[in-house]
Amino acid sequence: MQWLVAGGNGMLGKDMLATLRDRGEDAVGLDRDELDITDAEATRPALDGFDVVVNCAAWTAVDHAEEHEAEAFAVNAVGAANLSRAARAAGAKIVQISTDYVFAGDATEPYAEGAAPAPRSAYGRTKAAGEWAVRAENPDHLVVRTAWLYGAGGACFPRTIARAAGERGELEVIVDQVGQPTWTRDLADLIVRMVAADVAPGTYHGTASGRTSWHGFAQAVVAAAGMDPAIVRTTTSASYVRPATRPAYSVLGHQMLRAARVAPIGDWAERWDVAAREVLAG
Ligand SMILES: NC(=O)c1ccc[n+]([C@@H]2O[C@H](COP(=O)([O-])OP(=O)(O)OC[C@H]3O[C@@H](n4cnc5c(N)ncnc54)[C@H](OP(=O)(O)O)[C@@H]3O)[C@@H](O)[C@H]2O)c1
Repeated sequence: MQWLVAGGNGMLGKDMLATLRDRGEDAVGLDRDELDITDAEATRPALDGFDVVVNCAAWTAVDHAEEHEAEAFAVNAVGAANLSRAARAAGAKIVQISTDYVFAGDATEPYAEGAAPAPRSAYGRTKAAGEWAVRAENPDHLVVRTAWLYGAGGACFPRTIARAAGERGELEVIVDQVGQPTWTRDLADLIVRMVAADVAPGTYHGTASGRTSWHGFAQAVVAAAGMDPAIVRTTTSASYVRPATRPAYSVLGHQMLRAARVAPIGDWAERWDVAAREVLAG
């Protein structure tokens, strides 16, 4: 099987490529300079010969998107549509990476895959539009929503926290946002397993199991970095206002994976124990 990873130089794109190559798959990664997904004409021929196209390309500057929604939309919605349409023309499956930000974040139990999107930020609106565009353009699609991603290949929460803890000796971290920290290697592995299992087209949730707050995750990070977790104190979203609204509750359910007999990613804390050394060294 021939895999193409668009946005191959991003945090997820790098681990998607590494995971595919570790498993002996034929995988090509293209970064923005090689394939700009907002360029429909260039996108079409670039996909010839591929069986699976994973769209890891995105405008991910969440706060910046509030002031630049049209530019974010061009990548996250129009770019996703271009890639999905081109994949269909090439006879390829499209795997679209989406986000918990498509939801309002005011639920009290895990979001089902079919729950109604209600984004509260410009980034969330553009990603929700990308989901619909991908579904409309190619019946052979997997929309995989993830959240709280971290990995060795990019700037991410654990690396920021470990550095700040080392520099300052104490930290305040938000305790009233809850989610599922998810390692990019685990998400990449899940996508490979979903494609190998030939799961039905549709929308799936690709997050780790369990849940924690940013504060709980920060404590696990600080402990993994060899420091005392007690140096991480709590604060609330109200004292740390940013341009884009963050979902307070970002816990995604995994019913569609279970129905397809594909094991969801394991518990976030167990996976962090496995990931910590590689991610903090990255
Ligand atoms: N990070 C998270 O916590 C998180 C959570 C939920 C969902 N997601 C989703 O997961 C996916 C991967 O995110 P990530 O964290 O790996 O993001 P990332 O590190 O920012 O990578 C995104 C990549 O897309 C590239 N890109 C931007 N515009 C492009 C264009 N027009 N054509 C081609 N490539 C373009 C970027 O290139 P440049 O560097 O040149 O701009 C970058 O390499 C995204 O769909 C994101 O929405 C992420």
